[in-house]
Amino acid sequence: MLKVLVTGGAGYIGSHVVKILGERGCQIAVIDNLSSGSPKHVLYGNLWILDLSQKDKVLSILKEYQPEVVLHFAGSIVVEESVKEPLKYYENNVGNTIKLLCAMKEAKINKFIFSSSAAVYGIPEVIPVPETAELKPINPYGWTKVMIERILEDLSKAGEITYVSLRYFNVAGADKEGKIGPSYRKPTHLIIRALKAAKGELPFLEIYGTDYPTRDGTCIRDYIHVMDLAEAHFLAMEYLLDGGKSTVLNCGYGRGFSVREVIEEVKKVTKRDFKVIEREKRLGDPPVLIADNTKIKKVLNWTPFYDSLEFIIKTAWKWEIKN
Ligand SMILES: NC(=O)c1ccc[n+]([C@@H]2O[C@H](COP(=O)([O-])OP(=O)(O)OC[C@H]3O[C@@H](n4cnc5c(N)ncnc54)[C@H](O)[C@@H]3O)[C@@H](O)[C@H]2O)c1
Repeated sequence: MLKVLVTGGAGYIGSHVVKILGERGCQIAVIDNLSSGSPKHVLYGNLWILDLSQKDKVLSILKEYQPEVVLHFAGSIVVEESVKEPLKYYENNVGNTIKLLCAMKEAKINKFIFSSSAAVYGIPEVIPVPETAELKPINPYGWTKVMIERILEDLSKAGEITYVSLRYFNVAGADKEGKIGPSYRKPTHLIIRALKAAKGELPFLEIYGTDYPTRDGTCIRDYIHVMDLAEAHFLAMEYLLDGGKSTVLNCGYGRGFSVREVIEEVKKVTKRDFKVIEREKRLGDPPVLIADNTKIKKVLNWTPFYDSLEFIIKTAWKWEIKN
């Protein structure tokens, strides 16, 4: 039975990956400090409630458990907060990743899958953006991802690890069985906020910027269903176990929806209207962010199953009304 360690496995994306791994018979250990995740979302495996800064404890779990692969989701994820509190982001994302990698080295575990982000591209010049595009983040959150990728590249060159860094675009939707879904305490993602507005939990939804050079003036993003992303992790794991070389892969569908299109779809799916307020642009929001996914399709043979905005919103709504 394949043994896997998942950091941040009680969080939104990590818990969906744990579900897929559990359904496929993997033996799973989860480390999560529950700063944003929930133990109820860990449907398989053993959960250690632990902060990654506690390197000695992480090391003893690694030594005792001997996972073949580590999937690293744990981190701080709110872009705006990273601008106000950069040190928190460098410490938690970069500092604790280094501690984890040191513990892995000591425990002789050398396969690593990393949750990177399209934030590494900043405002890309080419759309859809390929992995070879220049990395020029526009906020500390994005820089933490670039720094970690750099560390991984150096470790790989030194022969210490092989890794897959998955650069996620906008992750959305929920488990289609409705067992788990996003668990953020203060959600900042558009689809979740729109659903909360539809539910009446938010008094209105804000649109930031309506004069972007896009088809309707609002930002365009590549929304990927969390279960397709979870599948990409499974394939990345198999790839590493089969001896695949270290690589960096975009995770997106290669098409985009504008903020207004998302809002219209949310109103259609929920059959509810809600108030929308137009605000000024936020600093550093790229007008369009769409993945070139040629490489992940080729390297992992990844085939998306849920490339439908309607399906993404339906599964997220099912989860939202249940909670
Ligand atoms: N959600 C997205 O659209 C998106 C896009 C790009 C990249 N990512 C990346 O994916 C990963 C997972 O994101 P998510 O959306 O599931 O967020 P999340 O907040 O739901 O999950 C992160 C999990 O890590 C845990 N955690 C944080 N710091 C920890 C620490 N020091 N020790 C132990 N546990 C800790 C949290 O409790 C939480 O359960 C993150 O690395 C994030 O940067 C997410």
